[in-house]
Amino acid sequence: MEIADFLGLLHPAIAVIFVFPLIGTVVNFAWQTRQRRLQNLNAGKSKIPPVVGKEHKQLGDWLTSAVVGLTLVGLAYPIGKNIIKQELWNKANFQVIFILLMFVATIASLVLLYQAKQPLWRGVFATLTGAGLVILGCQDGVYRLTSEWYWSHYYIGITAALLMIFSLAIVQDIYKSHRWRIIHTILNCVALLLFIGQGLTGTRDLLQIPLSWQESYVYQCDYVNKTCLKPNTPAPK
Ligand code: HEM
Ligand code: HEM
Repeated sequence: MEIADFLGLLHPAIAVIFVFPLIGTVVNFAWQTRQRRLQNLNAGKSKIPPVVGKEHKQLGDWLTSAVVGLTLVGLAYPIGKNIIKQELWNKANFQVIFILLMFVATIASLVLLYQAKQPLWRGVFATLTGAGLVILGCQDGVYRLTSEWYWSHYYIGITAALLMIFSLAIVQDIYKSHRWRIIHTILNCVALLLFIGQGLTGTRDLLQIPLSWQESYVYQCDYVNKTCLKPNTPAPK
């Protein structure tokens, strides 16, 4: 396998090996946290240990980094491929420096979001992290599938990542008010559906992307009429 194809597998592999199991664990603790709270409210004492809330929060912190990191890896691959293919470094080195700085700034904003205590700064760094992802997503090379946005791996993925960043930004509010707890639960049930969408659209995209040595043949196919050149037919000039 060529190095370019191998690098293309990094993002799906991290998703399958690390991020999806983490989602399962976070959701399991979320379910128990809710059950424990409701049982304590209705039937007195719950048998579920109090530590489940803390575990959910700690692994939730990890999940936000994991999803943002995975999104950055998913974006870095097509953006990097486009830079190399178009030889952008020679033609528009300002653009390349801007893209590199955006990756650094997005990661730095996320790190600062973990450190920030005041609501204002949490809002600022959450917005900057989200904006970083969106700006990187707008770069050339990213397969956005805007015409069919409702099953685009890009749009679903960015929305899920933004919801994780939002969860991290409102952590303190979840403890303080019941309304925020409900908002968090509803939004992250949506996030869960989006993660399932990522599993579906990601595996579909993997099936559609050809290996490097096949690209020049496969991309000659007529995608609208779903036909390809017959073997031994001379390629169009
Ligand atoms: C798919 C992802 C997630 C789902 C489905 C989810 C769902 C939930 C649910 C159902 C609860 C319990 C609400 C109740 O008591 O009724 C909860 C609590 C909480 N969640 Fe999440 N959550 C997710 C991710 C996150 C993330 C990423 C963070 C933080 C970065 C987070 C932070 C919290 C906190 C701090 C609580 C309160 C815990 C406690 O009461 O001790 N959650 N979440
Ligand atoms: C939390 C889950 C995931 C998130 C947030 C996520 C996010 C992203 C983003 C933002 C991109 C770049 C935009 C694009 O090219 O579509 C991307 C690309 C991609 N992802 Fe995911 N992804 C996730 C899970 C998966 C899974 C489970 C698979 C497959 C098993 C997968 C396979 C791919 C593929 C094949 C690409 C295309 C790379 C290219 O453009 O050549 N992703 N992902």
